[in-house]
Amino acid sequence: MAMSTAYTPLLDWLKTTPTGGFFITGTDTDIGKTFVACQLGRFLQEKRPGLAISARKPIASGAIRNTDNLLYSDDAIQLQQATDHIESLPTICPYLFEAAISPARAIKQASEQGGKPITIKDLAIACQVPDHHFALVEGAGGIYSPLAIDGLNIDLAMELQYPLILVVGNRLGCLNHALLTVGAIEKAGLPLAHIFVNNLSKNGDGNTVMDLQNLTPYPISEIPFQPI
Ligand SMILES: Nc1ncnc2c1ncn2[C@@H]1O[C@H](COP(=O)(O)OP(=O)(O)OP(=O)(O)O)[C@@H](O)[C@H]1O
Ligand SMILES: [Mg+2]
Repeated sequence: MAMSTAYTPLLDWLKTTPTGGFFITGTDTDIGKTFVACQLGRFLQEKRPGLAISARKPIASGAIRNTDNLLYSDDAIQLQQATDHIESLPTICPYLFEAAISPARAIKQASEQGGKPITIKDLAIACQVPDHHFALVEGAGGIYSPLAIDGLNIDLAMELQYPLILVVGNRLGCLNHALLTVGAIEKAGLPLAHIFVNNLSKNGDGNTVMDLQNLTPYPISEIPFQPI
């Protein structure tokens, strides 16, 4: 399946369901949330010329300390590139932690040393975008991964009220993770706009899309493995 074909159903979805943005979640960490967010951002800009897209990764752990002694989030750098550098890295990702631990644990560690105890409300504020901009917000980890001192990814999604996009890493066990995530989204009463089955290698199971189609009512498309 060609790359852009995978994203086309979202254009139809947007026609019937106007929204100011999407919240991108996944079945796990490292399964392609940033990859999909960047491709979707480029796709929307191509198909909707003039649409300004603001990407947000409100909190990132495992940030890299550069030679300038500042912390950088690789996700934020990719999101900035995919949105034509219209916003600065601190706008895209204001809360950065060096330790490669969950954001919530990183906040706790930092707050024990006097750091700000970052809340879901703080993250929601960081996710605000200029008027008429379309927001693409990437969470961290999966939908029930702790994200702030007082809540999980789903709590930020509830606060923002954007429809969700679920990225499923196409590997063994992903049906379980996908259905658990779908259940969590339904329980929260949030709309699920689309599911992307993302092939993280050339060995992805060719039946995953069909299996998920039989198990969920949501639109699904497949993202091919695209080695660099
Ligand atoms: N379809 C694909 N084809 C080739 N490589 C991919 C594909 N999807 C993801 N990758 C690669 O897999 C790795 C993990 O993807 P990505 O960083 O987007 O995951 P993530 O879910 O955003 O991770 P995190 O939880 O750290 O935010 C990256 O190196 C990315 O380039
Ligand atoms: Mg990411």
